[in-house]
Amino acid sequence: MIISSPSDYRQAAKQRIPRFLFDYLDGGSVTESTLRNNVEALQAIPLRQRVLQGGGTPSLETELFGNRWKMPLGLAPIGATGMYARRGEVQAARAAEKAGVPYTLSTVSVCSIEEVAKNAHGELWSQLYVLKDRGFMKNALDRAWEAGMKTLVFTVDMPLPGSRYRDRRSGMSGPNAKLRQYAQAITHPQWAFDVGLKGKPLSFGNIEAYTGRQMNMDDYMGFLAKNFDPSISWSELEWIRDSWKGKLIIKGLLDKEDARDAVRMGADGIVVSNHGGRQLDGAISTAQALPHIAEAVGDELTVLADSGIRSGLDVVRMLALGAKGVLLGRAYAYALAARGEQGVSHLLDLIAADMRVTMTLIGANSPAEINSRHLDAVVKELK
Ligand code: FNR
Repeated sequence: MIISSPSDYRQAAKQRIPRFLFDYLDGGSVTESTLRNNVEALQAIPLRQRVLQGGGTPSLETELFGNRWKMPLGLAPIGATGMYARRGEVQAARAAEKAGVPYTLSTVSVCSIEEVAKNAHGELWSQLYVLKDRGFMKNALDRAWEAGMKTLVFTVDMPLPGSRYRDRRSGMSGPNAKLRQYAQAITHPQWAFDVGLKGKPLSFGNIEAYTGRQMNMDDYMGFLAKNFDPSISWSELEWIRDSWKGKLIIKGLLDKEDARDAVRMGADGIVVSNHGGRQLDGAISTAQALPHIAEAVGDELTVLADSGIRSGLDVVRMLALGAKGVLLGRAYAYALAARGEQGVSHLLDLIAADMRVTMTLIGANSPAEINSRHLDAVVKELK
């Protein structure tokens, strides 16, 4: 298959990995209306075309959280990426390193914090969920710090998992899940050999490092099901702020009052996100929420955004709506599932090229320059 645009990677991933995994990656919660709306609302944002601005080739370089990035984006935490490609977290982290952008390792990764830090040497961030087992959280924080991951992405929009009906339909969960997964693996032998049979056995590395035993997919699902904690509140987050010496980014905010609370608790940044439409179905899209949040927090912390970004053009749209940088989620995970590290590197090149074209056509010379004056008047009137 010829891949000429970022969206081609979705189709390529669909062909390469079994259905239960593709649907886990591709799907959202309940009717998937928020998932769809993330993409559609963002793509509907009109940018203001300008001509003869004389700017030359724009630079994508960005400085955020005291570090220089080659472009204003990082890779979002995506669980179980080591199931899409062999040692997938390391492959994605290496592609991010090559592109000069940060990589975020999910709590629920196949490769452990230590394995990723040993094999990739760019800017590495560590993501943590709110879990009942505070011992696990403390252990993960200590290990991340020790491994040199000095930025913590603390995800707060998963007090419990959203209802993902597609996972039950496709065999990720539900009746006879194991049997259905084996049957699908047999029809994808290349994937099964690459991910399952070659090299180390599949185990969820970060949970294994804590429990001391191998964690297959069922064990990991069981650990999470027991451990999500709907009782946590902003006041309890103070112990995270007090015990984490590095940068703290709160991920999963959609509401300006929550964003103000993040400022009050001393966060360095937030990610405006609805978890890619995997949590509250019916929640507002991030393109719609972002301008209000950016206005409410001003320069008191750094605003990042994700959910629905599928191209360099979408990255520019998010910057025009008020983000200082973005996280790519499914966009890079499809590329990883399709072609491993090489796929993610190619995807990042496509996104960078697309950003340069878009920025030239709107007359912006650098990401830091992009703001609401690059939105067409129609959007400003709607605001
Ligand atoms: C996620 N996301 C996520 N977020 C997080 O904080 N920790 C995690 O482990 C995961 N795992 C995860 C798995 C899969 C399969 C997906 C699709 C998403 C959410 C992720 O970081 C990001 O917010 C969304 O992916 C953004 O939406 P788009 O751009 O993928 O639509």
